[in-house]
Amino acid sequence: MTASKITLGIETSCDETGVALFSAERGLIAHALHSQVDLHTVYGGVVPEIASRDHVRMLLPLIQQVMDEVGIEKPDAIAYTAGPGLVGALMVGGGMANGLGLAWDCPVVAVHHMEGHLLAPMLEENPPEFPFLALLVSGGHTMLIAVRELGDYQILGSTLDDAAGEAFDKTAKLLGLGYPGGPLLAALAEEGDEQAYPFPRPMLNKPNLDFSFSGLKTAVMLEVRKAEAAGEIDNRRADIAASFQRAAVDTLVGKAVKAAEAEGLDRIVVAGGVGANRLLRSEITTRFSGEVFYPRLEFCTDNGAMIAVAGALRLSEARSATEIRAQARWSLDTLDVPAAT
Ligand code: KG4
Ligand code: ZN
Repeated sequence: MTASKITLGIETSCDETGVALFSAERGLIAHALHSQVDLHTVYGGVVPEIASRDHVRMLLPLIQQVMDEVGIEKPDAIAYTAGPGLVGALMVGGGMANGLGLAWDCPVVAVHHMEGHLLAPMLEENPPEFPFLALLVSGGHTMLIAVRELGDYQILGSTLDDAAGEAFDKTAKLLGLGYPGGPLLAALAEEGDEQAYPFPRPMLNKPNLDFSFSGLKTAVMLEVRKAEAAGEIDNRRADIAASFQRAAVDTLVGKAVKAAEAEGLDRIVVAGGVGANRLLRSEITTRFSGEVFYPRLEFCTDNGAMIAVAGALRLSEARSATEIRAQARWSLDTLDVPAAT
């Protein structure tokens, strides 16, 4: 990073509009987030067109807000999420980043959303050093990654079906909870008995490092139906939520610890929305003999700060504003180690 540079980060890949200013000298100096959750709740999931429109509505006021807070007229560089994500939503952020880059005559850098997630702990006081194992658990991804250095990522395992967050969200829906279900299910689980239902720990004893959550989801569905048929569902919800959460967390933690040990890595970074789960955080800290790092809770889910820090670390790739990149699919292991700045 070049001294005194301030990078504006813009995140619009899904249903959160996030912006932040990251200073090479002072770290994170401002951030703002607007969640669209209320707009999508009635549909039970994210509606892409509504997401894009709301990013258009919110982005400029949020950027103005962080610039005013810090008292600068323009940043030195702009980083935006270029994928993976909803293409229309990504194009809003990419269009804004490149438009402002032209107006302000400052370089623009395209950031991989999942690299943002795995670098989010770099925003904390005690950031991890490379190498580390990353457990990336979000609404769209579940991955174990050997992170050898910035940009050198080897995917060791991923999900064969649902992502961890999707499994939480779908289970929450089965239980009649709102959207997004993950945090609501986690809150309900606090009141339940996690041993009430012996749900499967899918793939936990298989030698590979892949995940599968569809069998667990089916097992939950069968128990929900049984409880409904018996007129017992109101008394059973919390126990089902707690037993599901325990099974999902056991699987995620078991595989993450196994991967770190197999790779000889003594640090684990937990990132992505499901990384906000308290049971996951406490279990991995208890079961792993090395050090565990997480972003603060608000930076586990999507935000502009993680994009600003990832962009600041990739300033050598910043280009003058010309091309709007928006990729729905983009594998993390295709990234390169950036040239030194
Ligand atoms: O990283 P993220 O904000 O967005 C994506 O890039 O997908 O992750 C959102 C996911 C949702 O599935 C949400 O239900 C889940 O993270 N989530 C949680 C918790 N907080 C958010 N899952 C379990 N426990 C939580 N406390
Ligand atoms: Zn995300």
